[in-house]
Parts: sequence; C-alpha cells; structure tokens
Amino acid sequence: MTSQTSTTELLTALHDRDFEQIVLCRDPEVGLESVIAVHDTTLGPSLGGVRMRSYASHADAVADAMNLAQAMTYKAALAGVPLGGGKSVINIDPRVANRDEVLIAHAKYIASLNGRYIPGVDMGTSVRDLELIGRHVPVVSSQRGDPSYFTARGVVRSIEVALDACGRTVAGARVAVQGLGNVGLHVARMLARADAQVFGADIDADRVHRAVDEIGIIAVDLADVLQLDVDVVAPCAGGGVIDEKTVGALRAAALVGAANNMLSTNSLAAELRTRGIVHIPDFVANAGGLLAVEAEVRDDETGLTERVDAIADTAREVLNRSTAAGTDTVSVALTMAGEIVEANRKHRPYFRTE
Ligand code: NAI
Repeated sequence: MTSQTSTTELLTALHDRDFEQIVLCRDPEVGLESVIAVHDTTLGPSLGGVRMRSYASHADAVADAMNLAQAMTYKAALAGVPLGGGKSVINIDPRVANRDEVLIAHAKYIASLNGRYIPGVDMGTSVRDLELIGRHVPVVSSQRGDPSYFTARGVVRSIEVALDACGRTVAGARVAVQGLGNVGLHVARMLARADAQVFGADIDADRVHRAVDEIGIIAVDLADVLQLDVDVVAPCAGGGVIDEKTVGALRAAALVGAANNMLSTNSLAAELRTRGIVHIPDFVANAGGLLAVEAEVRDDETGLTERVDAIADTAREVLNRSTAAGTDTVSVALTMAGEIVEANRKHRPYFRTE
C-alpha cells in the first residue's frame, strides 16, 4: 500500500492478506492518530511492538503496521511460540510534549481488544512507556527490559548457518553491520569475540565511536556498508534497506540481519537467490527477541537460551528446502510458517479459545 491508498485498496489488502482486524484510532483532544493491526491469532493472542513515529501520511502508518503485524505472525509460527501477529503504530513525533497522554489514549484502544493484542517496545517507545501502557491494558510485555541480546544471539546463530553454507566459519569471516544500536552492537560484539573481522556504520557517530572503542570494529562510510566485499552483510538498522537499487550493489556472499522487513519487497529474495547470495529471512533470524518476550509474558525463562540457539535449526531447514525446491528463502519460510498456522486453523481467532 502507498500513501495514496484508497478505502477499497485497504479492504482488498485486508482480505487478500487475510487480516483479522485493523483498528483505526483517533482522539483529537490529545492528538492521537494510531492503528492496531491484528493479522492472525490462530496460534495465540497477537503480540507486537508499539511503534511511535511521524509518517508522511496516515496511510503509510497503516501500511507499516500491517506489514509488521504480518511478519510477526510468521516469526511466531517459525519460532514455535503460541502467539499471533500484531503491531500498533502511533503516527506522531515521539518528542511530542503530551507524550504520556497520547500513550494512554492509545492504551485505552488496546484495552478495548481484551487481550487479543499484547503490546511491547518498538521503535520510538521505551520500557517506561510500556509500564505506562501496562496500567491500562490486560497484558503487556517488555516490562523486564530490553530483549535485544536475545535478538542478536539468534541473528549470530543464523549468520553461522549462512557462513557454513558458504563453506566458511565465523572465525576469520568478514561481516559488515549496518546500525550499531541495541541489536547491532550485540551482534558486532559476539562476532568480534568469535574472531570475525567486523565492519560497521551508523548514522549516530557516538554509536560508531563506542563500537570502535569497546569492540574494535572497523568504521566504514554509511554509503558503503551494504556494498562491502565481505562474507556477510548484516542490516541492523531500519527496514527496506535492500531495494531495487541496493540489491544490485550487494557484493557479500550472504545477507542476514535483524532489521524487520529489510527487503523493500519480498520478490527481491528471488534476485538474491539468482545471484547466489545466501539469505536468511529477517523473520527467521531475528526471532530471539520474540522468544524472550514470550518467556516474559509466560513468566518462565527456562530453556530460553537453547530455544534462541535453535533458530539455527530453522535457518538451516529454510536453506535446505530452498536448495531442494529451487525457490528463494523468503517463499520457503513463508510456506513453512503458513503450514504451521494452517495446521492450527480451527482455533482461529484467539477469542474463541480464551
Ligand atoms: P536501535 O534503534 O537501537 O538501533 C538502530 C540503529 O541503527 C541506531 O543506532 C540508528 O542510529 C542506526 N541507523 C538508523 N538508520 C541508519 C542508517 N541508514 N544507516 C546506519 N545506521 C542507521 O534499534 P534496534 O532495537 O537495535 O533494532 C534494529 C533493527 O532490528 C530494527 O529494524 C528492529 O525493528 C529490528 N528488531 C529489533 C529487535 C529487538 O529486540 N530490539 C527484535 C526484532 C527486530
């Protein structure tokens, strides 16, 4: 969907992409304009972050929420967690003066869903914000802190699988990390500790300095990081960074990172395959954070590290099936996730099983 999305296009997208529910929310008194997207609750209540940012149009915010919610369904299914896919987006600059009022107004809309959508931290929101939201909704996640370590751990396991498929090991491998934030810094640190040579870039110069000082990464230009001649490129900043232009400039043997929806369109996965670039889809590699959040909601972290490490098994299966079927890895992973959801379809939607 684009910013020109009409009502008909929205309804078509809702139907064609099999969404359960889209809640468009407004509270003009506090300046709230938000959306809650519940993609699929077959496997359990939908879980996903609350994103707060200003979009060019509200249609863009709705489109982003829908894309992210759908990816959460697949991520949860492939990670084996009993959760569905959801996401919410508040279309406002996170620095707005009455931020708390806006968050509370959004929380009240979430509360009206009676637990079908469990909110968590996402871009533009913090653990403190989720505490505030938690006072108004039945269930909330991200209260115990930042799941980024577990996200990074799953990404590194996936990088190991991709390197293995290229006949390499982490020791001695050259990896370029785009974005040295919560996840990217952990990824860089784990790889450096395993004797990889790590290159990195971030729009925030302080974060680059910290990574150079603390980890010893090699800083590279923002414009070059995705195009380096390395073993792995690991996008850990925003989504859509691999598009029709940047895909052609990739020189790495593998593409594996944390950034949600890193391909601007799924069809680019076929081009990656044609070019022989090993690609582990983001919704496979970055599920560690979701596993951590789900353990938090269940209040049981037993075996969490092992379950995050098992992301390697899923990544390997995706690569193997892709090779066997001659299909790109995103199509394969979507098929695998779809099979898991379909096998449980009789429970859909979540309120039937409450
Ligand atoms: P973050 O906001 O802590 O870090 C992102 C970093 O990327 C920041 O340092 C920012 O300055 C940098 N950045 C932004 N645009 C850039 C650009 N064009 N070039 C280079 N650097 C740029 O976010 P976080 O939590 O580390 O998440 C990173 C990605 O991973 C996001 O796409 C997020 O959706 C995804 N993700 C994060 C999870 C988590 O547990 N935090 C879980 C699953 C996915």
